[in-house]
Amino acid sequence: MGGRSQVLASRGHPSREINMADAPRTVLISGCSSGIGLELAVQLAHDHRQRYQVVATMRDLGKKGALEAAAGEALGQTLTVAQLDVCSDESVAQCLSCIQGGEVDVLVNNAGVGLVGPLEGLSLAAMQNVFDTNFFGAVRLVRAVLPGMKKRRKGHIVVVSSVMGLQGVVFNEVYAASKFALEGFFESLAVQLLQFNIFITLVEPGPVVTDFEGKLLEQVSTAEFPDTDPDTLHYFRDFYLPASRELFRSVGQSPQDVAQVIVKVISSPRPPLRRQTNARYTPLAALKAVDPSGSLYVRTSHRLLFRWTRFLNLGLRCLACGCLRIRIWPR
Ligand SMILES: NC(=O)c1ccc[n+]([C@@H]2O[C@H](COP(=O)([O-])OP(=O)(O)OC[C@H]3O[C@@H](n4cnc5c(N)ncnc54)[C@H](OP(=O)(O)O)[C@@H]3O)[C@@H](O)[C@H]2O)c1
Repeated sequence: MGGRSQVLASRGHPSREINMADAPRTVLISGCSSGIGLELAVQLAHDHRQRYQVVATMRDLGKKGALEAAAGEALGQTLTVAQLDVCSDESVAQCLSCIQGGEVDVLVNNAGVGLVGPLEGLSLAAMQNVFDTNFFGAVRLVRAVLPGMKKRRKGHIVVVSSVMGLQGVVFNEVYAASKFALEGFFESLAVQLLQFNIFITLVEPGPVVTDFEGKLLEQVSTAEFPDTDPDTLHYFRDFYLPASRELFRSVGQSPQDVAQVIVKVISSPRPPLRRQTNARYTPLAALKAVDPSGSLYVRTSHRLLFRWTRFLNLGLRCLACGCLRIRIWPR
């Protein structure tokens, strides 16, 4: 395979003989209208060694302006934009049929939606939408690209999970559950896929400053959360929301930084199964890692949120300046 050469003419490259080992890898990314997906698509498309052909997808092509502007000269060369709604089988099939030979070398499951608020006030339909997008959306795409990857005996599946896939966060129960589901699903699959030389990586960002948080805040500002008792609403609006804003302000990462981590993972010859992106968040993640019973994490989170609010804000500022920074997983 390594010495084979072929002419690649229709992947945006001028017709030329290229060695298969040097052929650009086709990277399909979901959810590229904004945030991490957009940044990742642009960084890969601008790779100075031109190692990637990026298929940057979004469910609504009416939003492609920002991506096209950021892609610049890469547009039509190393980056193409395509429609893909991860909640639709037809859309997935249609998107793959537009890729030469249907061959995807690297799949990045990035599309995702959030949901916050008191459980009693959220509709089951809203919860199901989170699972349909975050979990079944990824499963749908993986099932579509897997036969090709298995046949070629190579591939890499990257999943944008979250630190909330490792530890639950108050008032984010359904979102965290969707990310836990991804973690269990892909950890299980990783074992079988090693037999086919296919790698899986779960990327786990902490808070990232993208439209994601803005969309959630907009959602909660208009939501009425029916059937929720006044105490719970008070805890949500007057304790959780301010703490969440402070968390994003203090340790929030840029989508560029997260994309850089994913680029590194994609270019690695032996990609890891898990990769956290934010060293400033690791002390919070460590609360779970150091006490498998879970008590330390639950009790500390409870105290910080409801009893020691000032200490929480001070701690977050310390994390932001780096004085509490520790690393529990090797880079
Ligand atoms: N921001 C954070 O704090 C954070 C932290 C950890 C992990 N993450 C994860 O990072 C990923 C990217 O989020 P982000 O922060 O970059 O937020 P974002 O800017 O809101 O991006 C989310 C993307 O997913 C797309 N999307 C939603 N539903 C879709 C569907 N059915 N089909 C295809 N695309 C769909 C959105 O498209 P539309 O524009 O059409 O809605 C958007 O392009 C998500 O999986 C999220 O869970 C985010």
